Amino acid sequence: MDTVINVRGLRMSYGERQVLRGIDLDLRRGETVALLGPNGAGKTTTIEILQGLRTRAAGEVRVLGEDPARGGDAWRARLGTVLQDWRDHPRWHVRTLLDHVAAHYPTPWDTGELLKTLGLDGHATARVRDLSGGQRRRLDVALGIVGRPELLFLDEPTTGFDPEARREFHELIESLDTTVLLTTHDLAEAERLADRVAVLLDGRIAVFGTPQEVAAAVQAPSLVRWRDGTEQTDDPSELAWRLHQRYGGPVPELEIRRPSLEESYLNLVERSAA
Ligand SMILES: Nc1ncnc2c1ncn2[C@@H]1O[C@H](COP(=O)(O)OP(=O)(O)OP(=O)(O)O)[C@@H](O)[C@H]1O
Ligand SMILES: [Mg+2]
Repeated sequence: MDTVINVRGLRMSYGERQVLRGIDLDLRRGETVALLGPNGAGKTTTIEILQGLRTRAAGEVRVLGEDPARGGDAWRARLGTVLQDWRDHPRWHVRTLLDHVAAHYPTPWDTGELLKTLGLDGHATARVRDLSGGQRRRLDVALGIVGRPELLFLDEPTTGFDPEARREFHELIESLDTTVLLTTHDLAEAERLADRVAVLLDGRIAVFGTPQEVAAAVQAPSLVRWRDGTEQTDDPSELAWRLHQRYGGPVPELEIRRPSLEESYLNLVERSAA
């Protein structure tokens, strides 16, 4: 199998505080994985280690076949990144900055096209510092993907996006032929974009799989709704059967909803805190 990221037993501490306590993670070529977890779980730390921006304490890490601690410029040119916190180049003009960054890559996007796709074509000559928060974030995304990276790291990329920008961003990410590691607190976004989801809790990956597999692992309840009531249950078919008997026939307006990723996630987090 073509594995783009391979992590075994990754550990990291800040001083006395152990943040990552043995993480295993694999990304296959072309898939999108969402790394989820509460504030302070270690998501940004993990992404920074994978890009060679931080030195790990222990563990095996391979990204595009290289150890990030030793990756050179040629390796870095195959990565794209949208960092969580990136405040830089306030005096640059949008298009000039994007052209400048694009020039570092062998086969970049057409920067005019990219600005248009991200709804920034009206701001091409603006200074970076004059953009709104959401516009600034769109520029971050443009800078992250302009080099047509093989592997894209997105650390809370849509924070501050309006709903339309968010939808356009999702469509853009889905259209890319790229392996993506994404963090987000928007679980609908994770559910939409991710092939697989990894939940980071207490320094370890608590669960890693498709949203359906996560729901199954967590055993989050399904919601059953019908004309005369609503009930949460682990066994919706059993409840539907009982209701069918109660009504002596079809249950009026019956609706069975499997747990959303958000429900599975919250279930998992609450259980780990207990
Ligand atoms: N440079 C640093 N020095 C000391 N502690 C740090 C540093 N960076 C992060 N931490 C701590 O490490 C833990 C993990 O931080 P990290 O930024 O990786 O979390 P995160 O999962 O990205 O959180 P968020 O969802 O808030 O972005 C936190 O407790 C944080 O306070
Ligand atoms: Mg973070």
